[in-house]
Amino acid sequence: MPDVAEFFRYFIRDYKEIAVEKNIILVGYMGSGKTSVSKALEKISGLTFLDTDEEIVKRAGKSINAIFAEDGEEAFRGMETALLQELIETGWKGILSTGGGMPVRPENRSLLKKVGTVVYLKTSPEAICKRLEGDTTRPLLAGLADHEEKLAKIRSMLELREPYYVEAADMTVQTDGLAPKEIAEKIVEAF
Ligand code: S3P
Repeated sequence: MPDVAEFFRYFIRDYKEIAVEKNIILVGYMGSGKTSVSKALEKISGLTFLDTDEEIVKRAGKSINAIFAEDGEEAFRGMETALLQELIETGWKGILSTGGGMPVRPENRSLLKKVGTVVYLKTSPEAICKRLEGDTTRPLLAGLADHEEKLAKIRSMLELREPYYVEAADMTVQTDGLAPKEIAEKIVEAF
């Protein structure tokens, strides 16, 4: 009988070797699962993950909603770019979960590539809408209580952003119907 524990250890070791060599950057629309996939990746790679939204909130000392309301979206976008520049300058290593609008700025798309290998989590508008039901933390989808209205907004934003996600990415993973762990495994296998 094969030694199952040894077999398992071998794979974990392999995953670590593969993931440690390159940083993994996740891009995709709000609700595409970037944070939960990052957490799953953290478990199988041994690398730690950084969430750009969380880091910006920590540094600004206020929520994303408050940054948008008090300082404006452009100020937030400036914070995103500055953070990417800092990660490059300091030689940061790990898994990076980015805000859904990060690849929209051309400058950010080239900065992202300098940080690491970029993975686009491609999710359907329907799945996104379902996941973001009742969410109040995304200022760009605020005030859209009605399901159809929200779905239409997600569809039109996704249509505009899709080319940017594709351009920023080195690989695309279709996420509909997959659990974060399954998505993380697909990513690691492709590295
Ligand atoms: C945004 C996505 C959010 C956050 C901000 C703007 C966007 O991040 O950065 O609300 O423009 O799509 P998540 O994708 O993590 O929700």
